[in-house]
Amino acid sequence: MRLIAANWKMNKGIHEAQEYIRKLLSLLKTTEDREILICPPFTALCELKNLLKETPIKLGAQNCYYKKSGAFTGEISPPMLKELNCEYIIVGHSERRHIFGEDDELINKKLIACLEEGLRPILCVGERLEERSAGMTFKVIETQLRLALSGIEDYTDSIDIAYEPVWAIGTGVPATPEDAVSVHRFIKDLIREINPSLKGDTRILYGGSVKPSNAPEFMKFEEIEGLLVGGASLEPESFAQIVYSF
Ligand code: PGA
Repeated sequence: MRLIAANWKMNKGIHEAQEYIRKLLSLLKTTEDREILICPPFTALCELKNLLKETPIKLGAQNCYYKKSGAFTGEISPPMLKELNCEYIIVGHSERRHIFGEDDELINKKLIACLEEGLRPILCVGERLEERSAGMTFKVIETQLRLALSGIEDYTDSIDIAYEPVWAIGTGVPATPEDAVSVHRFIKDLIREINPSLKGDTRILYGGSVKPSNAPEFMKFEEIEGLLVGGASLEPESFAQIVYSF
């Protein structure tokens, strides 16, 4: 089933989050044939846990640390997120990599920690503009994937992957659907090579300047098995349009 995920980033306090969810629920139509996920800031998770109970909307976190507990000031662990009914965790988002300096080794540890807790990671990968211009896109994606999945090759069915070209995030300039499809195919082939016994449960999502106006173009392609939406997920109306873009 395709997954449409909202990444609110550092936006919305509890009250705004409540209003948003009420509105979004009123806009939902059929939900059996698609998965809908909201990843709010940590501070809204507890409230959303209650609001989303018995609704078709799933809850996820935008980040985690890889230890279960301990002296790690300011960090949140996968067991804590599980207690809040999170089913998904975004791992290795480009803002985590480039603003907060997360490297592939840390991302690998976070993936392992999520899997141990039975949480489904959405692993983000993507090239920077200079890497794309230098013809390095596939090489960059391959390196990020091999390092992130190191030691957990057999568990790739329990992970979704978001292809988010860094230059497309928050810029209003998405990849063309054709370019995204070629990277998605490359990722699918690579994870099949990494894990030959893959059942095929890994979904490859596209993210980067997805809007209601361009979402249908992406969703026309079966290789695009979902969307990770930032800016356009902040209004329930536009997120709902994206949810029903296919
Ligand atoms: P954007 O962000 O939709 O605002 O480009 C996507 C993301 O960062 O996941």
